[in-house]
Formats: sequence, C-alpha cells, structure tokens
Amino acid sequence: MDFDFSNTPLLGIYTQLKNHLNTQERVSFKVVNPDNFSSTYNGTIVKVAKGEALYRGYKTWVDLAHTLGCKMLTPVVIDDDFILVKLQKLQVESFHSVDASKEEKYGVDSIFAHIHKNEEFAFLHAYTQALHNVNLPTRKRILNLGINSGDEFELIKKVSENFSTYELVGIDYCHSAIQHARQKFQNDKNITFYAHDINKLSSLELGRFDLLISIGTLQSTTLSFQKVLMDMVQNHLYKEGSIILGFPNCRWIDGEMIYGAKMRNYNFSEMSNLYKDVNFAKKYLQQKKFRVTITGKDYIFITATSIR
Ligand SMILES: C[S@@+](CC[C@H](N)C(=O)[O-])C[C@H]1O[C@@H](n2cnc3c(N)ncnc32)[C@H](O)[C@@H]1O
Repeated sequence: MDFDFSNTPLLGIYTQLKNHLNTQERVSFKVVNPDNFSSTYNGTIVKVAKGEALYRGYKTWVDLAHTLGCKMLTPVVIDDDFILVKLQKLQVESFHSVDASKEEKYGVDSIFAHIHKNEEFAFLHAYTQALHNVNLPTRKRILNLGINSGDEFELIKKVSENFSTYELVGIDYCHSAIQHARQKFQNDKNITFYAHDINKLSSLELGRFDLLISIGTLQSTTLSFQKVLMDMVQNHLYKEGSIILGFPNCRWIDGEMIYGAKMRNYNFSEMSNLYKDVNFAKKYLQQKKFRVTITGKDYIFITATSIR
C-alpha cells in the first residue's frame, strides 16, 4: 500500500510510517516533487495542478529514513507534480566480529573492515578541513593512534604534494588490521606501522611528533581518554605541535552511516559522553595554549594548534 502524504504534516507522516514499519520491511509514499520548486523551505504550501501540496526536500526524507532505521531508495516520478518516496528497513547487525578477541574486534574479519570512511562525505570534508587547519605541509612527523588499516594515512597521501617527506607512524593493537595496512602501503617507506597497545606507547621510544591524529579510538573502553590525551601532549608532541581528534557521532548499520552517537542503555542517540570528552579536550588543550576548533557532523573533530 502506498501512502498519500501530499498534504500531511510531518508529525503525522512520522507516526504513520513508524506504525507501518513495526510490521513491514518497506514503505512507499506520495509527496510533491521538490525539483519543481526553488528557494522554498520545508512545509511551504505550493501550487500543483490539482490544488495545493506541502513542499519538502530530499534531506527531510533521508533524515526521516535514518531516524526510522531505514535506507532511502531511489524515488519514482509519478507525474509532473508528485514522486513516490520508498524506504527500506535496515537490518541491525553486530558491529564487531563474533567471538573476536578485544584486539581483533576491528580486524579484517569484522564488519568494521567493510567501512570506507573516506567515501562518506561528512567524514571526508571534516577530516580534510582539519588537515588543512593544522597546516599539514609543515608537519613532518605524524603519529596516528588507532590507525586500523590506514584510511587516515590514505587521505593524507591523496591531499599531499610532498607525501614522501613526511615520517608517518601508525599504532594499533589489531594485528590483522596492521598487517593489511602494511600491505596497502608497502611501497611507502616513510610509513611505519606497529601492532602495539597504546597504553604501552612509551616502550616504543618513538620520540616527539609534529602532528598527532586519533580518530574513533581514544574513547575506547581499553583506554583512559583523559590520561592518554594528557600523556600525548606532555610526552609525545613537540611544543609547536598540532592535534586532530575525531569522535564518532554516528553508528554504522547495514551499510549506512546513521547520525548520532549511541550509548549503552539507550535505544536512541545520546551524546553526553561525546560532549563530555570533547569539552574536556577543548578545555585542557586551551589551558596548554592551543588554539582549538570543534567542527564536523557525523564525526566531531577537535583541531588544536599550539600558540606557545
Ligand atoms: C573504532 S576503530 C577506529 C579506527 C580508525 N581510526 C577509523 O576511524 O577508522 C578503533 C581502533 O583503535 C584500536 N584500539 C583500541 N584500543 C586500543 C589500544 N589500547 N591500543 C591500540 N589500539 C587500540 C582498535 O583495534 C581499532 O582499530
């Protein structure tokens, strides 16, 4: 059954779809074709051949789809005025490898290994902007904590004209991910990967770095976020160094990156932990005389540059 939502307020649409999806895997509904209008905000009453309809753009339908645990399929044009929007329920899957050790939770056999963050625009844009903000070409020694299979170095390589002049070090205790990273970058002699616990970083005697990057890692239950951050600033960064920290504000479900951090014990997105850690990092880094910016959307980025 297709719903006709040409004139239905958004709250009514949400309620009806939610009820429908309690028992169904797919839903389709008729709404005005947003391509026929420009400079129009959602909820505006617009003229169509047979009267009036409520205007809404595609972003609303994608937001609604994700909130309902769905993916939006390609809409079908019904006639000159209307389209059929189609949503399909996502299958909630376990994010980590079944029965994997803590080190292999993000290994090559996990669902995580199928994620390509650099192909998610919200991530790509925020990370590229962060690299730009720390003036990447001036940063020679770069350390990445929780590098996994090396996506974050891949982007640095793509945006750099002088890649071979950097000295990059990537740390992760996941052996299979590090092995994969080593294979991917086997021709880049300026990169070293260590399969090593971040808690025991000092035993590697790596010296100090110009740029520290850590994305989606420092909030891990295996690490004390505040302790690792303070240790990095005090013992592993040059006085003029910079830091890029990325905090996931999303979940990965059945092929989609869904906005909003998730905490255990909540069945909806809850961001207390995210705000707490971002706020701590910002205050601490400002105290240590860094200029700090907070950017991003599905990933929140703290970018800090020393002004000492
Ligand atoms: C969520 S993944 C993020 C990976 C990558 N930075 C990204 O955003 O795609 C977290 C990574 O941190 C690693 N990790 C977690 N705790 C660690 C620890 N104590 N020492 C070393 N690596 C750790 C995991 O193995 C995993 O590869």
